Amino acid sequence: MSGATARRAVIKGTGSALPRTKVSNAELAEKVDTTDAWIVERTGIKFRHIAEDDETTSSLATAAARQALDISGLSADDIDLIVLATATPDQTFPATATIVQHELGCNGCVAFDVAAVCSGFLYALSVAESMIRAGSAQNAIVIGAETFSRILDWEDRATCVLFGDGAGAIILSGEETEKGVLSTRLHADGEHNQLLYVDGGAGTTGTVGKLRMKGREVFRHAVVNLSSVLTEALDAAGEQMDDVDWVVPHQANARILDATAKKLNLAPEKVIKTVDQHANTSAASVPLALDAAVRDGRIKPDDLLVLEAMGGGFTWGASVIRY
Ligand code: UT7
Repeated sequence: MSGATARRAVIKGTGSALPRTKVSNAELAEKVDTTDAWIVERTGIKFRHIAEDDETTSSLATAAARQALDISGLSADDIDLIVLATATPDQTFPATATIVQHELGCNGCVAFDVAAVCSGFLYALSVAESMIRAGSAQNAIVIGAETFSRILDWEDRATCVLFGDGAGAIILSGEETEKGVLSTRLHADGEHNQLLYVDGGAGTTGTVGKLRMKGREVFRHAVVNLSSVLTEALDAAGEQMDDVDWVVPHQANARILDATAKKLNLAPEKVIKTVDQHANTSAASVPLALDAAVRDGRIKPDDLLVLEAMGGGFTWGASVIRY
């Protein structure tokens, strides 16, 4: 580590939660006109978890946050900020973050949702770490949580096979240190909002709507945007690609992960992949992948990480973290 000491947001714990029902491609192919071979070849997805009626975005988020809190050694009383990224809130309002807050027993602290779809966790992380760096928060829970199964058109085989449900969470604390979040870069470009969107909303149709995507177009933009923002975030942190230990990407498609790694000359074994087990869980996918790699011992203290994501909007971003 060569960076100067400063007040930074450091990851103190990670957690995750998945619905109890895990559905294989073969099981899906009994209801949808698709095959295991097509899904694996085009996406790398083998399984996804699908929420039962009693499982919600807030219940998954609460379970993930509890796990992260346990690991951090902090208690609910220590938390002064909850930022929850989701495109599938329990209700249009109140913010799902306030439901999680109440379940955890940290009523009174700041709690709100962030909507940036698949990049939501990066946006939430950026808001929380900025508030910590500014001194307006000390201990934050940052969550990405989704029940995308509820906004899928199960008649549309081009989209319904791609997504799953789940939640991931981290605890961020302010410390005077060389570690923690070193840089974050975020972008949005509303020109492309018709390539990936939901065809309903509280302020338009009065319905929730279903997910619509022009997959091939999104794919093309994803590789370009992700590789450029990853380089931008590394430059901002003063770090080199060769020094990165792990890239923790949004898990949309194994082919996007491979193509981005190739474009950046990055060794594929440095890329954390959970897309085969979780499918695309939108805002939950980055923290789910992070927690998996922390738990299985790949990610260790002082490792240099890059988190990155791209999704509807378009929105995209990357964050460089000394773990
Ligand atoms: O999380 C936000 C970011 N999202 C993404 O990054 C998603 C990006 N896009 C993708 O991952 C890929 O574009 C997809 C996986 C969505 C699609 O892969 P593709 O190679 O672009 O396939 P395609 O959409 O061009 O479809 C190819 C063929 C079509 O048949 P024809 O027209 O060639 O006869 C589709 O009808 O595959 C057919 N097809 C399917 N076949 C079996 C589409 N979906 C399925 C399916 N099973 N589920």
